[in-house]
Amino acid sequence: MCPRCGAAGRPDDRYCAACGTPVPPDAAPRHAVSGARKLVTVLFADIVGSTSLIEHVDPEDAVARLQPVLDAMAAAVHAFGGTVSAMMGDGVLALFGAPVAHEDHAVRAAYAALRMLADVETATGAAIDIRVGLHTGEVLVRTVTTDLSHDYTALGPPVHLASRMERMARPGQVLLTAQTARMAEGFIETEAQGPVAVRGMDDPVEVHRLVGRTSAVGTWMPRVQRQLTRFVGRDRELATVREALTHARGGRGRLTAVVGEAGVGKSRLIHEFVSGLPAGVTVRRLQASPYDVSTPYHPLVPLFGGAPAEAGEVGGAAVRDRVTTAVAAIDPSAEPAVIDPLVAMVGGQPDSPAWVALDPPRRRRRIRDAARTVIAGSARRATQVIVVEDLHWIDEDTQAVLNDIADAARDAAIHLVVTYRPEYTDAWIGRPDHDQVHLDQLRGAAAVQLVTALLGDDPSVARLRRALVSRTGGTPLFIEEAVRSLADDGALTGAPGAYRLVGDPELVSLPDTVQAVVAARVDRLPHDDKQLLQTASVFGETVPIDVLTSTSGLERHVVAEAVTRLRAAEFVYGLSSRRALTFKHNLIREVVYGEIPLERRRALHGAVADVLMQHDAAADAPIERLAHHAHGAERWEDAVRYLWQAAARAEQRSAYPQAQRFLTMGLEAAAHLDDAPEHLIRRIDMAGALRAAATGSGRRLHATLSDLDRAVTLAEALGDRPRHAMTEVHRSYVGSLTGDHHLAVTAARTAQRLGAELADRYLLAEGRLAEGQALVLAGSPATVPELLEPDIDYLRTAIGSDRRGLTTTRVVTSLTFLPVAYAQLGRFADARRMLAERTAIAQAGGRPFDLAFGGWSAGTIEVLAGRPAAARGHFEEGLEIARLHDLLYVDALIGAHLGGVQALLGEPAAALRTLGHASGFARLMQSDLIVAWADAHRAQAQLLLGQRSAARDAATAALTFARARGHPLLEATSLRWLAAATRDRGAADAHLLAALDVCDRVHLAAIREQVHRDRAALAGPDS
Ligand SMILES: Nc1ncnc2c1ncn2[C@@H]1O[C@H](COP(=O)(O)OP(=O)(O)OP(=O)(O)O)[C@@H](O)[C@H]1O
Ligand SMILES: [Mg+2]
Repeated sequence: MCPRCGAAGRPDDRYCAACGTPVPPDAAPRHAVSGARKLVTVLFADIVGSTSLIEHVDPEDAVARLQPVLDAMAAAVHAFGGTVSAMMGDGVLALFGAPVAHEDHAVRAAYAALRMLADVETATGAAIDIRVGLHTGEVLVRTVTTDLSHDYTALGPPVHLASRMERMARPGQVLLTAQTARMAEGFIETEAQGPVAVRGMDDPVEVHRLVGRTSAVGTWMPRVQRQLTRFVGRDRELATVREALTHARGGRGRLTAVVGEAGVGKSRLIHEFVSGLPAGVTVRRLQASPYDVSTPYHPLVPLFGGAPAEAGEVGGAAVRDRVTTAVAAIDPSAEPAVIDPLVAMVGGQPDSPAWVALDPPRRRRRIRDAARTVIAGSARRATQVIVVEDLHWIDEDTQAVLNDIADAARDAAIHLVVTYRPEYTDAWIGRPDHDQVHLDQLRGAAAVQLVTALLGDDPSVARLRRALVSRTGGTPLFIEEAVRSLADDGALTGAPGAYRLVGDPELVSLPDTVQAVVAARVDRLPHDDKQLLQTASVFGETVPIDVLTSTSGLERHVVAEAVTRLRAAEFVYGLSSRRALTFKHNLIREVVYGEIPLERRRALHGAVADVLMQHDAAADAPIERLAHHAHGAERWEDAVRYLWQAAARAEQRSAYPQAQRFLTMGLEAAAHLDDAPEHLIRRIDMAGALRAAATGSGRRLHATLSDLDRAVTLAEALGDRPRHAMTEVHRSYVGSLTGDHHLAVTAARTAQRLGAELADRYLLAEGRLAEGQALVLAGSPATVPELLEPDIDYLRTAIGSDRRGLTTTRVVTSLTFLPVAYAQLGRFADARRMLAERTAIAQAGGRPFDLAFGGWSAGTIEVLAGRPAAARGHFEEGLEIARLHDLLYVDALIGAHLGGVQALLGEPAAALRTLGHASGFARLMQSDLIVAWADAHRAQAQLLLGQRSAARDAATAALTFARARGHPLLEATSLRWLAAATRDRGAADAHLLAALDVCDRVHLAAIREQVHRDRAALAGPDS
């Protein structure tokens, strides 16, 4: 569609057939998919007080009054590539980013709004005011095609919100939401108006007022204004560009084209090249702009002293003066004859009779000659590096000038460096003095370096680093944007380059900015190819071609041809086997999938599921895939069955985050089923398994509690006491791990009571195991031996194999906590003996959770025995296994205690680092107990560093928690560090006496001795 007059044209028209305006490549008409979910910016504009304006006015006069305003509004929308969706009597509703996606729809909408205000003012002599509202969000776009027209309508809450913004705006104002402001950041100036309550919205809406546009042209300036990430990789590419320059400096000019997708790093490569230029080289930077494609010579205007197009100044002596100054700076020896043409180029109107007499083609010729002469002249003084960015937005006239400069460069010290995206091709390919540098996504080490530069190396971001690289396919812009949006959403805390993850890496959402860029690329595809890509996206990242063919219902050769095109356009990989299609990166798949309306999505998932079940490959169609599609097709019964099986497979691999995802989906799917007993039983079992998976993954453990509470209700309703008992065991574990001692003990005892009533040995043993664990973690060991010892043989022999929904081998769990209880009670010989047996069983079984947990018990025993160096070795070993298998809970638990040991060994800095990590993890999984332990040990490290008051605060925090939740060991430990942090001897001794009381109360013999030593030291000679 023509950006100026809106006329429809053929897809590859470069000029509008109706008005002759050059048509930018991405404004050409495309086939719109009717019915698609799209991220768009919605614009509402209306005439303020329109009713009173036309009251008592003849209808024809009323139209005559309002029509110019409406025309100006529509023209502004079209000028920036928007679509007028509805024309009301006194305003317009327009969409930017639909039916055809634009990566910068928010910027376009904002610029259109500004243009509207200006043009309406001009058209009406400021007699009529308008107001505009903008909002960015996902809408359902529908196309209604008739013989005469296409109508686009958008449905969804964002439309409503944009209209609210407009209603709230004062005359002459443009109001926009934070979503729009963020997406257009760097391109517009806004003023925050604060959060505002909006009818129909749950949360207040952040409103901004549009002030104006910034001077940014192209995408690079806004990116530089945010901090640049450390430059990585690209050695070879940079060398090619530098090599070309050496030729140019020798007088044999070169042309270098840097080609690559949006955000891959073209401008950054230029930036690095330009910042490292040798002395004696002059750089001139030109930038094509998507908003000025129809302004001739727009990239050259600033070079020759013209004001940017928006400034509105034309003609007059001022322009001539500026052009003259600019030319003198470029080439002092330039002939005066170049001035007239250059004044015309920048939009001025030379009035010399000679110029006025020229016809338009001759004027064009003169302008081209003048530009070339001045540049070539400057190259006689110094090597000229002329950078022209984003040729895909270049206008024909500038293109012609560049061609001239390229010709002049053959024997001049000119290095013409251009950048463009692959949808454009330059005219110089094949010339011997032309290099094309193709930038691909960052791969391997470079991608990891970039992610690490952005995130830092905190262990909490380790998995996120991997997830980001694979999800973004290594496109630097996408990586940066994803990190930025995680930080904005609060999922990352800390500073750039040193972040800690406090959210879930699995839940990284797609930033709007990235979605827009990818969607714009996808929308350049022909309709059929896009449809096929949609079908493929439902299937997954890799799709066998024959499955794709049967699902799409298309002829084999049609699919084959489409796949070939998709490969050429770099959406999918060309696999050597040629039998499958693989998305180049998952973002493309996600964006394509995201645009499919829900109803069609359901149908496609159903079709894929059907094909999978009857296809040859059905035998090895992975259960995970069936689960995914049954869920997507909303076939709940199948979905629950497959998800339950898929979770089991994940559990067997100790892949707890996956298991957690399957079970969460499974519970959600099961909620759609009726209350038949087998459905209720499945829900109870899934809730338990989800608890175990959450323990393994170390995430959202707390959240499983409500599922478990529901499971208790269901079990009671069914009269299923064994399941009720097992659910109580799970509830007890949640209590133990998060530090809710009361929950841990009461739930374990309920399980024991039920087990006894049922005379069920296994359930009884599980109930005791849970209580034993709770008591040991709380540091209240007195009754633990009598609780756990009787079951050891039973667990060793009768419960050899694993039961579903538990992360550890049962006897190993018993042998993990019992020895620690012995050590707490001061029985070190018993503790070590039992630990040896534990180690042997755990190693034979090879279960990561068992092995990692062993590091904790062995280390804890040595801490209690007063041998920190030995403890450190055990802790580090356990930690390594935990990290290897992503066992966050064990990682945090061990980390909190390793930090204590490091402090004991006189390494406070290392201790604080370790404790910081452990606290971060613990917060992530909502384990207040581990946070409190980390606080207690932090106090110790801070004391070593002489930070007495910080130490007192940390110890007090730990103490408060320990007392409130009933954790004697932590209580005694915090009291020791609190005493050490207290100057007043009497007060310090009071803390130690309190600690002794605690130890006596629960028989903590090991700590008791340490407290005695503390007291002796306190009473000794002044320190
Ligand atoms: N090799 C790199 N090392 C570090 N950061 C990089 C690298 N390449 C790109 N970036 C960063 O990624 C972002 C996108 O890069 P850049 O703007 O150069 O992309 P582009 O290819 O020019 O995109 P467009 O087509 O939108 O102009 C920038 O913030 C840039 O600093
Ligand atoms: Mg760029």
